[in-house]
Amino acid sequence: MTQGPQAGILNRPQEHEIVVAYDLVGTRDRATTVDTLELLRAVIERELRSDIDEIRDDTDKSQPFPETGELGYADNFNRSFLTVTVGNGLTAFDALEVPAALRPADLIAAPFEQIGLPAATTGTGDIVVQINTDNVYVAEHVQRRIEFTLAGRLQTVWAVRGDQRFTSRAGRASSGEARALIGFHDGTSNLDPAHLSEDSKLVFVDPANMADYPANPPGGPQPAPQPGQTGYGTTTSGPIFPDDLQSVPTSEPAWTAHGTYLFVQAIEFDMPEWDHSPLGTQETTVGRYKRSGASLDLDDLDANRKAPPAFATNPADTRVDPTSHIRKSNPRSGSDDNKRRIFRRGYPLIVADGTGTTRRGLIFQSFSRSISTQIGFILRAWMFNPNFPTPQAGPDRLNHFMHTICGGYYFVPPLLNAHRLTSWTIPPNSETPAAP
Ligand code: HEM
Repeated sequence: MTQGPQAGILNRPQEHEIVVAYDLVGTRDRATTVDTLELLRAVIERELRSDIDEIRDDTDKSQPFPETGELGYADNFNRSFLTVTVGNGLTAFDALEVPAALRPADLIAAPFEQIGLPAATTGTGDIVVQINTDNVYVAEHVQRRIEFTLAGRLQTVWAVRGDQRFTSRAGRASSGEARALIGFHDGTSNLDPAHLSEDSKLVFVDPANMADYPANPPGGPQPAPQPGQTGYGTTTSGPIFPDDLQSVPTSEPAWTAHGTYLFVQAIEFDMPEWDHSPLGTQETTVGRYKRSGASLDLDDLDANRKAPPAFATNPADTRVDPTSHIRKSNPRSGSDDNKRRIFRRGYPLIVADGTGTTRRGLIFQSFSRSISTQIGFILRAWMFNPNFPTPQAGPDRLNHFMHTICGGYYFVPPLLNAHRLTSWTIPPNSETPAAP
């Protein structure tokens, strides 16, 4: 058996997504939790086989019917490239009675308070499920069947639905051309773990390669880089890092190989204010031209969309504002910054629910082999650290428009058998996990 990552991470992103966080209900011990996860696995397995519940002639009409019906009553429905990705929140490891030595070493609580963007729904859930497909009905059916079949065992904490970015090209959105709701290309600068093994190493845990993790700098004021040196800030002032940055793990348990850390932040964006902001303000905020997507320190040409920004080789070049989104989230000036990159796989969010105008935003989602050296570092040391890259520089300019609806950090376990889509590992409580 070859272990491998879950299918919904590396495949071409489907048109729609529903992400749901669930809490375990009732007794929180390992036996009950494993039972619940096995029931969840069984439901998902049936969905991935397009298996509708049995329709029998002797149906007892005084009872609820096991099949909800919106996909009809014949098996083999078109799943439209359905994948279902399952992850575990921090609290699931308590319920599963996983000893410290066997826990994913980098999993921590959600960072929203620390970054000054508290979530409207504070719970992050024990379990997270990402349902991706080209057909919203199929996604809804998976969500509903989980809800129905596991009622009394899993309780929804939050659910958000996202839809693919826009692209003027026919067919599914290509990352190079797709636009976020804010009207800018999004996905331009991203890892490509499906095609590049170097990028894949930054996305999936490899317990044998922990020495490759960059060290985190100490908290407090950092030295100002002198001409010719790499480093953050200007020649006269360096950043101040928080004192409580997460420490970097030196080992991960063997079972986590091919697993990955997921960060979800469903963000409502202040679109009315954004739309009334001058074009120049929008471009300074993002750090790219709105039309071409090129970095603001290059010419405004389509051909420059993928070109590295000039600030990458000359940090003194501030035509891309040091607090712009692309520079705060990837400053490209520390010697280890390449290893801090994450794989983004977000979905724009459009919520029209009868309470005022449509709320628009993004389900930001990233996968990375660590939290401490990547997403957690990006959020806390760079983007939302007002003292980066220089004291009192301010947070990421995009921050002003962002409100967190819900989200969290999760560990997405590997598949024990890369060819069996529901063979995700239930985190073990001893060194020799049982095969599913
Ligand atoms: C509503 C919220 C957000 C919007 C609309 C948004 C939009 C964008 C846009 C337009 C770009 C530039 C295009 C590109 O390089 O792909 C970008 C880049 C990026 N964003 Fe966001 N973003 C949001 C939230 C976040 C969050 C919460 C993070 C957390 C880490 C993040 C991380 C990044 C990263 C790492 C890049 C690539 C920067 C680079 O390498 O040049 N974004 N985003």
